[in-house]
Amino acid sequence: MTSWEIERLRSRIAEAAAGRQFILQGGDCAEVFDECRPDILTSKLKILLQMSLVLTDGVKCPIIRVGRFAGQYAKPRSNPTETRNGVTLPSYFGDLINSAAFTPAARQPDPERLVAAYQHAALTLNFIRALVEGGFADLHHPEYWDLNFLGKSGLSAEARENYHRRVAFVANAIELMEILTGQQMDQLTHSEFYTSHEGLSLAYETALTRRVPRRPGWYNLGCHLPWIGERTRAVDGAHVEYFRGIRNPVGVKIGPDITTSELLRLLDVLDANREPGDLVLIARLGAKQVRARLPELITAVAESGHKPAWMCDPMHGNTVSTRSGRKTRHVDAILSEVLDSIDLHLSAGSWLAGVHCELTAESVTECVGGASGVQESDLDTAYQTLCDPRLNYEQAMEVAFAIAKRFEGRNPRPPNGHRPTT
Ligand code: PEP
Ligand code: CO
Repeated sequence: MTSWEIERLRSRIAEAAAGRQFILQGGDCAEVFDECRPDILTSKLKILLQMSLVLTDGVKCPIIRVGRFAGQYAKPRSNPTETRNGVTLPSYFGDLINSAAFTPAARQPDPERLVAAYQHAALTLNFIRALVEGGFADLHHPEYWDLNFLGKSGLSAEARENYHRRVAFVANAIELMEILTGQQMDQLTHSEFYTSHEGLSLAYETALTRRVPRRPGWYNLGCHLPWIGERTRAVDGAHVEYFRGIRNPVGVKIGPDITTSELLRLLDVLDANREPGDLVLIARLGAKQVRARLPELITAVAESGHKPAWMCDPMHGNTVSTRSGRKTRHVDAILSEVLDSIDLHLSAGSWLAGVHCELTAESVTECVGGASGVQESDLDTAYQTLCDPRLNYEQAMEVAFAIAKRFEGRNPRPPNGHRPTT
């Protein structure tokens, strides 16, 4: 990537923090080398495009599309080892480190994987860029994203109709603008895509950190928006030390155990210059805790004068284990956390600037509930994730529809002004 793209994303995130744009960040929990294939990458793009179109219509602002791809290869694990049938091996730490197969050879960490990860990330990015630049993501042609896609899926007739209504609305708005201005809305309709991953392996991240001509500072040119995970966000830890030194916008996950003073110290380190667009706070508090914790965090941040973009990750605070030991998440909990976050921000005079989801366009059965009706007993049917459970296509669209609906009529932001804080 280039520093130009990174700077552009910074300025868009600054807009999102000010309530004028919305970030959709999504993709696999663990991206794997074997899935660096055109069909799979195209589906990843399609689902983010479809969700973003629904959100454009509902939130009524430009959507910043950020994939958890082209580098989401490293996983923090709560347990360093895994035991199956009495055999204990190192856990799978993501394709950047070792391989998922449960054999001693596969679980052996291999530094050559750092190079392979870079190559797969570059291939992924190249393919995504080719699709986006080639016009696949152009809003003039939403039909490219749904041919044989919506039709085949288990999406309800009502949801399909909802999607088509929103597509038609956006298409008509573009057409009207083009008639009124006599110009092609290429600037408006050309979609941008950004990449993100958890910056867990400092060996990988620092190797891709460079200076560029005619710009001060250091850029991580391995992705646009790296983030610090919940487990590595210690203020005096190595990750925060590395992240405070790069020009990229930086995400930081915050879980329910964070104290306000810890959060304020993080802001002072990661957003020391108080430049808009520097920082994205990705709250993953859990549906049960969000009402109790989010308002005090929003208030403390607002009083500190920092202006990060607030996002909600409604996935990681809502992971549960089934009796058979499968990790899953309930769509109801996911919806409840994200919708509560929207409301809590609005009532605090703040703005939820985005959502961060683990999702796939494939028909997996990893999360339960929602309109697609996956039950706990269905989990074994297509449980494919190598780490956390992802929303499948219908569940992801359901989340997008719900967010769009919740924002409807509630985003009074004038394009160049401040949102009223009522
Ligand atoms: C993740 O995003 O996959 C992750 C591990 O998240 P968190 O750091 O919030 O637990
Ligand atoms: Co995850």
